[in-house]
This record gives sequence, C-alpha cells and structure tokens, in this order.
Amino acid sequence: MSDGDNADDSEIICMCSGTTRGKIRKLFNDGMDLEAISNWSGALSGCGGCEWDVATFLAELSAQ
Ligand code: FES
Repeated sequence: MSDGDNADDSEIICMCSGTTRGKIRKLFNDGMDLEAISNWSGALSGCGGCEWDVATFLAELSAQ
C-alpha cells in the first residue's frame, strides 16, 4: 500500500465532526466499512455534506 497521500492526513474531511482524512485512513486500515467509520469518527453524523468526499476517499483507499 502506498502512503504517498499522507501529507493530506491533517485535512479535515468532515467539518461537523472535525474528522481528518488521517482518521478515516486509520479506521479503514483497521478494517472498518463506511458505516463503522461513521459510527467511530462521527463523520456523516451531522449535515451529511461530507458523504461524497468520504465515500470517494474510501474508494481511493480501497483501490490502493
Ligand atoms: S461535514 Fe460531515 S456530517 Fe457535516
């Protein structure tokens, strides 16, 4: 797996929960799916505006 995108890990992907890309990456690497990641991080639990970004990021991680 490439860690080439880790420079973006401090970027907040969900404004409502303050969840960063790094947090999503870690939970994904722990084997969590979108629902579990949402439950653990709080992402997608507010306005839902980050749904596309989170889903796209997970798709990117899955493709690595
Ligand atoms: S930005 Fe993620 S739920 Fe609002």
